[in-house]
Amino acid sequence: MTPAEQSLKAAEICRLAPVVPVLIVEDLAQARPLAEALVAGGLPALEVTLRTPCALDAIRAMAEVPGGVVGAGTLLTPADVKAAKKAGAKFGVSPGSSPALIAACEDEGLPLLPGAVTATEIMALLERGYTVQKFFPAEQSGGAAFLKSIGSPIPQVRFCPTGGVSLKNAPDYLRMQNILCVGGSWVAPKEAMARGDWAEITRLAAEAAALPRG
Ligand code: 3PG
Repeated sequence: MTPAEQSLKAAEICRLAPVVPVLIVEDLAQARPLAEALVAGGLPALEVTLRTPCALDAIRAMAEVPGGVVGAGTLLTPADVKAAKKAGAKFGVSPGSSPALIAACEDEGLPLLPGAVTATEIMALLERGYTVQKFFPAEQSGGAAFLKSIGSPIPQVRFCPTGGVSLKNAPDYLRMQNILCVGGSWVAPKEAMARGDWAEITRLAAEAAALPRG
């Protein structure tokens, strides 16, 4: 998959809804009902972070939920990319980017949303052909004001900011031209997941899905 194809696919996934839930699944039994709850609320693109022992199995289980587009987050190495693809991930997300990780995603045909946080990192990815990037950690790195500033010299790169994004500050990002969507964990709170309160997660998803985009 070429970088241009990767970015095209990443943009398509980012446009599915204003918010991509960032999920930390501790218990495999939560995977399917969690995905069903989020999809029912209107958030089809789901990022399962590879941070828990059951993450790959969770991707496998969630990939079967109708209407969901399940990806793997926290990709750090080419081995992560291979494992994610094998588990059925339809896209990948990385906190930053490295040449080896990018090459692995291109070789495996796994559309990647690569992370960048400085003008130099954004330019390096753009040079390689990536026009859709994750801005992480968003709030800690200058937030919406940074992305507004970078949109002036580098308008051709569009972002999915993630990290510290909430229902409250998401509109600051979503109203800008160079933002495709935001990522965040607020739609799947740990406590609601632990008590199996899927109705609450659907409610949070629906609230997020209704956020206006600019
Ligand atoms: C992460 O990697 O944990 C994501 O960026 C989510 O961040 P958040 O929990 O602040 O939404």
